[in-house]
Amino acid sequence: ALERTFSIVKPDATKRNITGKVIDRLESAGLRVIASKRIHMTKEQAEGFYAVHKERPFFGELVSFMTSGPVIVQVLEGENAIAKNREVMGATNPADAAPGTIRADFAESIEANSVHGSDAPETAAEEIKFFFSDDEIVG
Ligand code: CMP
Repeated sequence: ALERTFSIVKPDATKRNITGKVIDRLESAGLRVIASKRIHMTKEQAEGFYAVHKERPFFGELVSFMTSGPVIVQVLEGENAIAKNREVMGATNPADAAPGTIRADFAESIEANSVHGSDAPETAAEEIKFFFSDDEIVG
């Protein structure tokens, strides 16, 4: 089915000026960028976005990393976009990511892992709404 998912190009990728390389992987996999903006997340935004992880031991570091520099937040559309995006990203930990995936090729660590992608339809819808209004999404 035609789906939408939410993607973040993380601070480690903007810092190394490889956002085009990362987004090329997404587009080459058949995902279409239908909304995009470069933002510097506030602490409040990062804490809100990652609220499901607030009890995790790495939460503080995660928030600090995600606010350490600019990110590109995007809405991606395509056939089975959620699973396809996860496939192209590879495993969360780059040490476990399959060859040829974004994280295998670009990520620096489990934290500085270059990209985020929604894990399910419900979270995709929530994450899209967290950063985009309807008029910013042009399908
Ligand atoms: P993301 O898909 O953005 O969702 C939560 C993030 O937490 C995840 O990517 C990782 O970058 C990060 N993360 C997961 N596990 C750890 C960990 N053990 N230490 C630091 N960061 C982690």
